[in-house]
Amino acid sequence: MTLSGAARKRKKVPSVDHDDMASGRPARLLDWYDRHRRRLPWRPLAGESADPYRVWLSEIMLQQTGVKTVAPYFLKFLARWPDVAALARASQDDVLRMWAGLGYYSRARNLHACAVAVLRDHGGVFPGTEEGLRALPGIGPYTAAAIAAIAFGCRTMPVDGNIERVVSRLFAVEEPLPQAKPLIQQLATTLLGQSRDGDEKSRAGDSAQALMDIGSSICTPKKPACALCPLNDDCAAHARGDQESFPRKAPKKSGALRRGAAFVVTRGNELLVRTRPEKGLLGGMTEVPGSDWLAGQDDKAALMQAPLPNGIARWHRKAGVVTHVFTHFPLELVVYTARAAARTPTPRGMRWVPVATLADEALPNVMRKVIAHGLGR
Ligand code: ADE
Repeated sequence: MTLSGAARKRKKVPSVDHDDMASGRPARLLDWYDRHRRRLPWRPLAGESADPYRVWLSEIMLQQTGVKTVAPYFLKFLARWPDVAALARASQDDVLRMWAGLGYYSRARNLHACAVAVLRDHGGVFPGTEEGLRALPGIGPYTAAAIAAIAFGCRTMPVDGNIERVVSRLFAVEEPLPQAKPLIQQLATTLLGQSRDGDEKSRAGDSAQALMDIGSSICTPKKPACALCPLNDDCAAHARGDQESFPRKAPKKSGALRRGAAFVVTRGNELLVRTRPEKGLLGGMTEVPGSDWLAGQDDKAALMQAPLPNGIARWHRKAGVVTHVFTHFPLELVVYTARAAARTPTPRGMRWVPVATLADEALPNVMRKVIAHGLGR
């Protein structure tokens, strides 16, 4: 049983380590974090202060990608561009090439634009407030809160999917997502802690990362390991035994299947590619020529959009299809291959690249699958 602040004053209860006397949850979270936090390459060791550049770089990479996938990319970026000024001076093409494989490529373009803005408008120093961070390219409300809390100790709680799950279970939030987001944000904010010596320094970043770690390793979507959770004592869903049913979710509308054709054309040891338009899906990335991607597209209409209509003697349709799931729609591509004669001219807006140097191209995952399928690798 805990006492309210007023009752404590009256009874002269000795001061305690952490804030939120009502529940003790913030303190338990931080104690757990101090003992069990994941060692991740962008996290400083206990007692060290966070480097805003590393926090920002990791948070952008983690926006739509898991920790395991991000770790090697983060280390690669950091080795090549150790600070924001170095990244700002890189070319956007180099950044896209390093990003290839991580997906959601507008993040890479914004990453570069943000580094340029920090160097040009802020003398290479990241702004230390959510508001200042949000004014930068690629930094939305969640990422601004994450950087502000983790790098600058601002008392704010970034709520990601893991935190949504932990909090919706802890408080048995009946409202479905996404409508429940503001309520979950409010409840999550009650879990912010502060430093042990009671000074003003917030440990908001540690509170948030404790919830992220619990969400990823204990409070998992299926079969949560509640026995290991530092908050199990007063978890409403655990008490009821229906923790897996949270967070409640409104039924999802997924986009219709889109179909298209991709053309893998070789000329000797070279492959025909082009660069996608700057704006839009996979903007600025490399692809093999292809048809539109449309719901209900039939194969004949897709084949009509093949490049080099006069330069190809015969298209060969590869068996099977390549599938890929984007956020808003699933995609199914039929792959055609052809060999072009040695002197086949280069179609407008395209280029031949040696197959041996394809790794240097900014190829999104869907195109890696298409090329592997087309070249039989
Ligand atoms: N996901 C987003 N930010 C994260 C962080 N700082 N630690 C672990 N997972 C995260």
